[in-house]
Amino acid sequence: VVDIRKLYAQAGVFTYDPGFTSTAACDSAITFIDGEEGVLLHRGYPIGQLAADSHYLEVCYLLLYGELPSAEQLELFETTVTKHTMIHEQMHNFFRGFRRDAHPMATMVGVVGAMSAFYHDSTDINDTWQREVASFRLIAKMPTIAAMAYKYSIGQPFVYPRNDLDYASNFLNMCFSVPAEDYVVDPILARAMDRIFTLHADHEQNASTSTVRLASSSGANPFACIAAGIACLWGPAHGGANQACLEMLNEIGTVDRIPEFIARAKDKDDPFRLMGFGHRVYKNFDPRATVMKQSADEVLELLGIHNNPILQVAKELEREALEDPYFAEKKLFPNVDFYSGIILEAMGFPTSMFTPIFALSRTVGWISQWKEQLSDPDLKIGRPRQLYTGATARDYVEVEDR
Ligand code: ACO
Repeated sequence: VVDIRKLYAQAGVFTYDPGFTSTAACDSAITFIDGEEGVLLHRGYPIGQLAADSHYLEVCYLLLYGELPSAEQLELFETTVTKHTMIHEQMHNFFRGFRRDAHPMATMVGVVGAMSAFYHDSTDINDTWQREVASFRLIAKMPTIAAMAYKYSIGQPFVYPRNDLDYASNFLNMCFSVPAEDYVVDPILARAMDRIFTLHADHEQNASTSTVRLASSSGANPFACIAAGIACLWGPAHGGANQACLEMLNEIGTVDRIPEFIARAKDKDDPFRLMGFGHRVYKNFDPRATVMKQSADEVLELLGIHNNPILQVAKELEREALEDPYFAEKKLFPNVDFYSGIILEAMGFPTSMFTPIFALSRTVGWISQWKEQLSDPDLKIGRPRQLYTGATARDYVEVEDR
């Protein structure tokens, strides 16, 4: 009989790190986070400055190419992305195959994965130009796909992209315009939308990005890798938290019920957690949440929403949780998803669209990391080890003897 523990002992250095809390799986020059200080830098630029002074497509260029673009480079990039916003007309049939009540994330996982069946040329990962084309296609088509998933779920006709609109306005138009009515995008709402995209653009080796890198390490095509990332993002501990957070605020309903939910979050026998609180890396504050909170105030002011009961619950929950020693001790602060849901709801999005919006924003981060990984000449397939806890080797027993 083989002693498996002895085999491990002979195998040399072996780290056991469930949840990868202290293991780096790659090196990267894209995003830096200092969780203790609440710092997030993209290619060296602080997220607060990018959210205030830049815009999403410029941040996309920065993440993809490492430097801020010149005016000429930016114009060329924006024009190129804009040219790719339509999806193949045959893909409309693909959408229609889904049940009406499908969650838009379910539709997106399928449709983005199916892009490899429609854009064969971009599946050749050894062709560096096709890697560029795949990035343009994904960044350009994700808003179209997310908006179509939404329109399909509410039984309205698809709205084609408009290339005279900027990235955020085009997305809002595809979601909210209907053929029978004139819809004009409010520039302040478009700016808030663009800021949500920017604040979610990249976040180094989170679960979905690590999933994209792991899928890519096997040589899978870009659409398959991004579909894997979308699937991972869907979980409530990750991108699904924005939907879960708003659902929780609705469930709480009124401020007088907040203590009951705080007590549940502290109870070790209750699996309930305060959604939108806590972060694996940020143990002081989430710098994206600071900008998002400010943005939420601006949007609600613009829309004249002052007495929204859900907003009151959110504000009071934040106050009471931050004063509670349990949350202070465990360093649990509101994260970016706590405020983004409030803005998105005020804009008129149903909760089921919150995570698709996160997915479309994060696409550039996934793609930038995918490209960075493929340019590594020493790229190895990702293959984590395990700590085996099962039976030691034993002889097979015939069924009649068991
Ligand atoms: N409510 C109540 N208690 C919490 C919460 C919470 N939201 N988050 C963590 N804790 C507690 C845990 O129970 C644990 O307590 P213990 O030490 O007594 O066992 C302790 O804090 C540490 O929690 P972990 O789960 O070990 O922390 P981890 O870093 O693995 O998890 C995570 C981070 C997943 C974000 C967690 O805080 C969480 O589940 N938050 C709610 C979901 C959420 O908002 N996710 C969005 C993350 S941001 C993003 O993806 C954009």
